[in-house]
Amino acid sequence: MNDSVVLVTGCSGHLGARICCSLKESSDSVVVIGVDSVRPKFEEHIDHFLTLDLSLLADIPKTVDHIRNLLSEDLSVSPNFSLGLVNNAAFYGEIDGWGVDFLEETPGAWEQVFKVNLFAPFFLCQSMASLLRAHSGRVVNVSSIAGLVAPQFDLYVDTGMTNEASYGASKAGLNHITKWLASWFAGDVRVNGVAPGGIERGQDISFKDRYISRTISGRMASENDVAEVICFLLSERSEYVNGQVIAVDGGWTAV
Ligand SMILES: NC(=O)c1ccc[n+]([C@@H]2O[C@H](COP(=O)([O-])OP(=O)(O)OC[C@H]3O[C@@H](n4cnc5c(N)ncnc54)[C@H](O)[C@@H]3O)[C@@H](O)[C@H]2O)c1
Repeated sequence: MNDSVVLVTGCSGHLGARICCSLKESSDSVVVIGVDSVRPKFEEHIDHFLTLDLSLLADIPKTVDHIRNLLSEDLSVSPNFSLGLVNNAAFYGEIDGWGVDFLEETPGAWEQVFKVNLFAPFFLCQSMASLLRAHSGRVVNVSSIAGLVAPQFDLYVDTGMTNEASYGASKAGLNHITKWLASWFAGDVRVNGVAPGGIERGQDISFKDRYISRTISGRMASENDVAEVICFLLSERSEYVNGQVIAVDGGWTAV
C-alpha cells in the first residue's frame, strides 16, 4: 500500500513535471496528485490529475473536498498515509501590465499574480488544514530569489526580459506565510519553502553570461537541483527543518 500522498500544483509546468517525476523516482509508495489549469503533456508520473484555475479562490474548497473523497476511495492508499503539498504554480501569462517595465505594471496584473502566487497557496493550506494535521502534513512553498533580494536590472539590458515588482512581492509574501503557517500549525505540520535561482531554459546568451558570472556555483539552476531539495523537505530526512525558506541558487544570494 502507498504510504504517502503528495499534491503538486503547477504540475504541467517545467519544474512541476520534474517534481512529480522525482517524487516517483524517490519512492515506490507515493501517490502523486497533480493540479493545474492546463493538462500536462506527460502524465506518467501523476496518479490523479485535477483541473483547477488557482486564481478562482472560491473553487479551492470544492477541489479539496474532491481530493478528500478521492483519497477515501483510492484503495491503494494506506489509512496512515502522510500528506505533502507543494505549492509550485506561479502566474506567467498574457495579460496587460505583465512582462513590462515598472512604469507599465497594472493593478489587474498585480491582482492576478497575487491570487496565483500567494493567495492560492494560503487558501489551499487553509482548506487542507484538517487533512494536513491528520496526516503528518508537510508543505513546501516554491518561492524565488526574487522574493529575497531586489533585481539587478543590468542583467536584462537588451534581452527583452523583465523582472516584475509584483512577482518579487508575491514571493516575499509567500516567504512570510511559510513562517506564519509553520508557527500556526505549531509542529503538527511542517511548512518550508525553497527559493530557486534562475533556471536555465535557453535564455538570451548575454543574460546567461552575466547571470553565471555572478553566481558562486558558476552555472544556472536545473529543475533537478530544485526538485531534489523539495523531495528532501517532504521527507522524514528533514524532520527538524521547519518554517525555513532554503535558497537553491548556487550562492546567488550569499554575496
Ligand atoms: N523558472 C525559473 O527560473 C524560476 C526561478 C525561481 C522560482 N521559480 C518558481 O518555480 C515555480 C515553477 O516555475 P516554472 O518555471 O516551472 O514555471 P512554468 O510556467 O513552467 O509552470 C508554472 C505552472 O503553473 C501553472 N499555473 C499558472 N497559473 C495557474 C492557475 N491560475 N491555476 C493553476 N495553475 C496555474 C501553469 O499552467 C504551469 O503549469 C514557480 O513558483 C516559479 O515562480 C521559477
